[in-house]
Amino acid sequence: MPADRKLVLCRRRFLQFVAASPLFADTGLPGPLGRMGNATAWAADPTAMADITSAAQALNVFDLERVAMKNLPIAHAAYLNTGVEGDATVEANRSGFTRFQIRAHRLVDTTKIDMSTRLFETTWPVPIFTDPVSSLDAFHPRGDVLVAKATNARKQLQVYPTLANSPIEEVVAARETPPWFQLYPTRDWAITRALMRRAEAAGCPVVVVTVDNITAAGRETLARQQRLDTRNCADCHSTGPGGYFRSKSMFDGLDVTQLRGPLTDNLSWDFVKRLRDVTAMKVVLKGIVTAEDATSALRYGVDGLLVSNHGGRSEESLRSTIEALPEVTEAVGGKVPIMIDSGFRRGSDIFKALALGADAVGIGRPYVWGLAAFGQEGVERVLDILRTELEVTMRSMGAASIADMRRGYVAKT
Ligand code: FNR
Repeated sequence: MPADRKLVLCRRRFLQFVAASPLFADTGLPGPLGRMGNATAWAADPTAMADITSAAQALNVFDLERVAMKNLPIAHAAYLNTGVEGDATVEANRSGFTRFQIRAHRLVDTTKIDMSTRLFETTWPVPIFTDPVSSLDAFHPRGDVLVAKATNARKQLQVYPTLANSPIEEVVAARETPPWFQLYPTRDWAITRALMRRAEAAGCPVVVVTVDNITAAGRETLARQQRLDTRNCADCHSTGPGGYFRSKSMFDGLDVTQLRGPLTDNLSWDFVKRLRDVTAMKVVLKGIVTAEDATSALRYGVDGLLVSNHGGRSEESLRSTIEALPEVTEAVGGKVPIMIDSGFRRGSDIFKALALGADAVGIGRPYVWGLAAFGQEGVERVLDILRTELEVTMRSMGAASIADMRRGYVAKT
């Protein structure tokens, strides 16, 4: 759990403890301090919250997280939350934002806020997109399609994962513009090629190649909490050769009996060239976090970069993506669009990334919280919350557009 949330929970527990203490049952004082009933104690604690019962009641994305955590079976919640080893990179992604502050500029006319961003041939009204998250049916039936409808309703980009449950064609049908396709390259080139062909045929203009989740990471939180789930997991999870891929629609009709999983520790820059040569889709690499790799990517003709550490689920580097961003933007020098994800929970987080040179920001877990809590409405609420928070941040910091933000709006400690 991120440090800022731990602090809130500790404070809340402390205040609950104090309120329940006999010392405070009757102080003999007049007014609220006299008889500190429960309601008064909660009112004295600004972090106290009743559970929300509709998406509209959510004030921030964490309100939806709490509902999602209550709704989900523990193994699925663990799959969503897990990092690797001690989950310290998950926390680093959050604490990284505290090392950057926003330099507010005053007396700027912000009556009109333009947060639009251009990625390749498309201008998006909001610079926030939904990241590829596999197996969304674990969080809500037909999750991929509901995310398609929600992002479409808000005219935002969706990146559809190789390991989705719903067919890509259904997701395309649910949107006015096709999603981008996230590719997990497999060890079998024929299968990789077939995945690409299907995405191309469905109309995806961009392939986002994930290059950071290449080996079986030690997801201890997942492994530990899975044991607490008493349901029979074999009812849904197929086992045996290729069983993992059976519920993943992109593999329908392909011979997956020899595939071990989406793990590709044999990837090299030659693979990028090979991919580049066979597809008309724009190629974006997801998982780049250094200037050296960004420079190589440009040399190999990559069209865009997604600065990501997989939300801390594939490595324990302890390096937040917001701290990696400046060296990547410097190396790229505006030649290709740069996107970023991992740990974004607030409009002010998004502001910092845009001000540091990112063209768009991806969210993973937050929209899944919305999905698990209230389905499509929950996803829409998450998108609305983050868009509104970004707009408010822009207004209060005196930046009317992304171009404005880049004129000295961020300081680093
Ligand atoms: C992911 N992510 C991911 N990335 C990817 O390229 N292909 C995938 O199939 C998945 N699957 C996946 C499942 C789950 C449950 C999560 C939480 C994440 C990573 C995702 O695209 C993104 O990089 C991170 O989620 C961003 O970090 P936050 O926003 O979750 O902190």
